[in-house]
Amino acid sequence: MLRVRALRLLGRRRASGVSVPGSCGPRHCSSGPLGVRDDAPGARAFFTTPIFYVNAAPHIGHLYSALLADALCRHRRLRVPSAAATRFSTGTDEHGLKIQQAAAAAGLAPAELCDRVSAQFQQLFREAGVSSTDFVRTTEARHRVAVQHFWGLLEARGLLYKGLYEGWYCASEECFLPEAKVTRQPGPSGDACPVSLESGHPVSWTKEENYIFRLSQFREPLRRWLRDDPQAVTPEPFRLAVLQWLEEELPDLSVSRRSSHLHWGIPVPGDDSQTIYVWLDALVNYLTVIGYPNAEFRAWWPATSHIIGKDILKFHAIYWPALLLGAGMSPPHRIYVHSHWTVCGQKMSKSLGNVVDPKTCLDRYTVDGFRYFLLRQGVPNWDCDYYDEKVVKLLDSELADALGGLLNRCTANRINPSGTYPVFCANCFPPAPGVAGPSARAQAEDYALVNAVATLPRQVAEHYDNFQIYKALEAVSSCVRQTNGFVQRHAPWKLSWESPVDAPWLGTVLHVALECLRVFGTLLQPVTPSLADKLLSRLGVSATERGLGELFFLPRFYGYPCPFEGRRLGPETGLLFPRLDQSRAWLVKAHRT
Ligand code: MSP
Repeated sequence: MLRVRALRLLGRRRASGVSVPGSCGPRHCSSGPLGVRDDAPGARAFFTTPIFYVNAAPHIGHLYSALLADALCRHRRLRVPSAAATRFSTGTDEHGLKIQQAAAAAGLAPAELCDRVSAQFQQLFREAGVSSTDFVRTTEARHRVAVQHFWGLLEARGLLYKGLYEGWYCASEECFLPEAKVTRQPGPSGDACPVSLESGHPVSWTKEENYIFRLSQFREPLRRWLRDDPQAVTPEPFRLAVLQWLEEELPDLSVSRRSSHLHWGIPVPGDDSQTIYVWLDALVNYLTVIGYPNAEFRAWWPATSHIIGKDILKFHAIYWPALLLGAGMSPPHRIYVHSHWTVCGQKMSKSLGNVVDPKTCLDRYTVDGFRYFLLRQGVPNWDCDYYDEKVVKLLDSELADALGGLLNRCTANRINPSGTYPVFCANCFPPAPGVAGPSARAQAEDYALVNAVATLPRQVAEHYDNFQIYKALEAVSSCVRQTNGFVQRHAPWKLSWESPVDAPWLGTVLHVALECLRVFGTLLQPVTPSLADKLLSRLGVSATERGLGELFFLPRFYGYPCPFEGRRLGPETGLLFPRLDQSRAWLVKAHRT
């Protein structure tokens, strides 16, 4: 019998406060597993969020994880529109000691707690426009089949053995902790109680015979995987963190608990006295949703991108690939890692009473507004701090004033009385400044604008590939500012449709601005789907003209016909995004108190 000691690496659930300097440079990387381009016709892509614990209601951090995955997935659908090419799963993690204890504390049966909280996650994601194609719950029968089959493979391959595990277990983090990660704190009765050094959650000493996975055999294959595919874990600093962990001790992993202690879980096949470790159970959800163990799952594995928070990096980038390799499968295509939201500089927690309710935020700032805020401000490499004023300031300046103002300026009846997409005049805006004729009016900055917007879709795609969605939004926002500058410079409101000299240039200025807006609307669809729909509808862009394949910016400038020229604008003339600081009574109240 083997005594598993010093489980140094096992328990670093919250230990990955990875300090993450800089970000990786832009690299257009669309090649998927086996060098197949991700956006090649027929290529498939499967995106996943982590599955969420049901011990407490969802908060904005959970929503952020889901929105990052949603935006990646929606961007991919713009590249590859076939519905059969992209899959996107989310779900709830319902087993384990943490849930068992939360249910007991709430006086509920575990299944009842799971049903309630899982429904809250489903409701939130529906409201927030998370466009998942699958929702998995680990208490479903299909999941039990998948987990037990996976277990059987590991066992058949000689990768499980029974051994004595002795060490600290933190139920809240559902992981084992080494002695060095445990400290003592005065408990309710004043006694010194052992707690996790990182999270402050209680830990308990566990000594029992468990099934153990031969994790230590996988150090070299894991290193090879990470070295051979430099984007396997993105952004780069997180990949380096994983490589660093692989330099440290990699002890075997306890993968079951005594059922007398943990009954809320999936029994080990053929041994009811043991329950499968919740992390092994949870990770297999990614296979369950694609039909595992039926052969159909092979269409989607390993073309899979996991979106995860930094606290669960070790589980996804060490345990999961090792388990997969052990079961004869490849590691996932990508693991995209993000950092956390804090509130006034502090970790969000129920005990601190600072948890930000995502439902309130969606109601206050609108679904599109709050999606934009989280994805525009959330930087994967660093933690971000949340406060309400920041949301109002950002949305008012970027969505209401800059983008909404631009649309309004260029489509208002006063400036565009015909209500059509104006005609571009090539003599006013010749293909290059050098070939300017007598009617040329475009200036050097105008060419810079055309160049910036023409290259924007590719830049945005590169940022998505590098999991830097905030940079994609920053790039769009910078082009919106540049377009406002263009309109300001040429002051179309001072030009007259009646003047034969002004009219062609007036049409051209508006045409260029609307073309820019068409690009912005198209590129914003993954982040603000309703707002982008409103914008594109106002421009008269039909549903079949909104993909990246159809996005040919300013074709008239390059000598091609423009399908939009002369087309009627959409009838919806309302504000694209009303300012928040004037329209929200709650904000006035918040300022007063
Ligand atoms: N159940 C596990 C995941 C199993 S996946 C096989 C779990 N659940 S969780 O509910 O605790 O966390 C789910 C996701 O929410 C994780 O990606 C986590 O990083 C993320 N977040 C939790 N708090 C967060 C913030 N404060 N900010 C941003 N994301 C955060 O871990």
